[in-house]
Amino acid sequence: MDFQLTEEQKAVQQAARDFAQTELLPGVIERDEHQKFPAEQIKKLAELGFMGMMVDPKYGGSGMDTISYVLAMEEISKIDASVSVCMSVNNSLVCWGLEKFGTEAQKQKYLIPLAKGEIIGAFCLSEPEAGSDATSQRTTAEDMGDYYLLNGTKNWITNGNTASVYIVIAQTDKEKGHKGINALIVEKGMPGFEVGKKENKLGIRGSDTHSLMFNNVKIPKENRIGENGFGFNFAMKTLNGGRIGIASQALGIASGALEFSLKYAQERKSFGKEIFQHQAIQFKLAEMATKIDAARMLCFKAAYLKDQGKDYTKAAAMAKLYASEVAMYATVEAVQIHGGYGFVKEFHVERLMRDAKITQIYEGTSEIQKIVISRDLLKN
Ligand code: CAA
Ligand code: FAD
Repeated sequence: MDFQLTEEQKAVQQAARDFAQTELLPGVIERDEHQKFPAEQIKKLAELGFMGMMVDPKYGGSGMDTISYVLAMEEISKIDASVSVCMSVNNSLVCWGLEKFGTEAQKQKYLIPLAKGEIIGAFCLSEPEAGSDATSQRTTAEDMGDYYLLNGTKNWITNGNTASVYIVIAQTDKEKGHKGINALIVEKGMPGFEVGKKENKLGIRGSDTHSLMFNNVKIPKENRIGENGFGFNFAMKTLNGGRIGIASQALGIASGALEFSLKYAQERKSFGKEIFQHQAIQFKLAEMATKIDAARMLCFKAAYLKDQGKDYTKAAAMAKLYASEVAMYATVEAVQIHGGYGFVKEFHVERLMRDAKITQIYEGTSEIQKIVISRDLLKN
């Protein structure tokens, strides 16, 4: 077992840290307040090669490992989780799924511009009546011979308005249950495809979350990913990697909260000394740091297993479950350490606290992670 990062991994971490401090920190409060999508910041992130980090360079990616991805996600999420969720969806849910299961033609047409960050992708599984219970898809993809006729509504879609390419999960044969579901590549602008309202959210307010409507949208057969009926398994396999991305996002939110708190605790004075000198504050920081390190180990373990080509289903679910709890815990403590200043926007930790909550909900709620983990325990 080797706890050392390679020189390349350290360089990625440093590049992400520099980017977060110089490009994301200025303006993050304003973007959050005005729900402004970080378009310019995503463009610069793409120039760094962070929108297709793990994709083979022959398909426009950076060819990095998953550990590097965890490191970059952590650094970006310390400052702006609205940027990191866009990055995570594009990398883990869209690029990975296309590279792993797409045809050569799909890779040439869609993966290359997505991995280069020239366009952004979205992953569309959730519906008004099908969130955790993802097999009960109401959106239909009727087989019409040469094409599928797509009808239905998707909810809560990250990058909903910004994306150009959408992977949409839909039911083709209800009788076959989850084995009758397909994953289809849908392009913005296809007749009958409409972007619905933008959600006004508690956190990650810079991220554009929209509902999507499909009304008799014709999707050519060549836009199906994998064999007929592979769509649900595609979504589940893709989400395993996605959960490493969101676990790393939660880790970053927590470690951002720790960094802001450490700095503040050495500046703020009460009773004639820095509040860091009070044992009550020291203990909070010590507990935060310990839990954050444990969360980081779980993220690294899941990433390591993925890089080794081993099963990482349980490890990814554990990392997401634990890191998201730590994000909530650490950000609440960070607000407490900041006292009244923690309750206002200028000191960043109130935003981190609001952003932390979503990590317990999307890409499978904490309860769903426990289902995934316990099923794996029984199976193995
Ligand atoms: N990895 C691989 N395969 C999996 C899997 C996993 N983690 N979980 C389930 N499967 C497979 C099963 O093996 C089974 O396949 P076979 O029949 O071929 O063996 C198939 O999926 C159906 O599994 P189940 O019978 O267990 O299905 P279920 O209906 O009981 O529910 C569930 C399974 C785990 C609860 C699943 O519905 C689930 O993960 N729900 C959560 C949905 C979710 O995470 N949504 C996220 C949307 S994307 C998003 O949120 C992005 C964002 O915010 C940024
Ligand atoms: P429900 O499934 O209705 O769950 C409600 C509560 O019941 C939860 O606490 C849940 O854990 C619990 N529960 C449900 N079933 C069980 C069970 N069997 N056992 C125990 N407890 C259970 N989806 C996408 O497809 N793509 C995206 O890009 C995307 N981005 C998102 C961005 C944001 C900001 C948000 C808020 C959501 C996003 N989602 C996205 C949707 C997200 O994945 C779902 O909200 C999530 O999976 C939960 O589904 P739900 O909201 O329908 O809650």
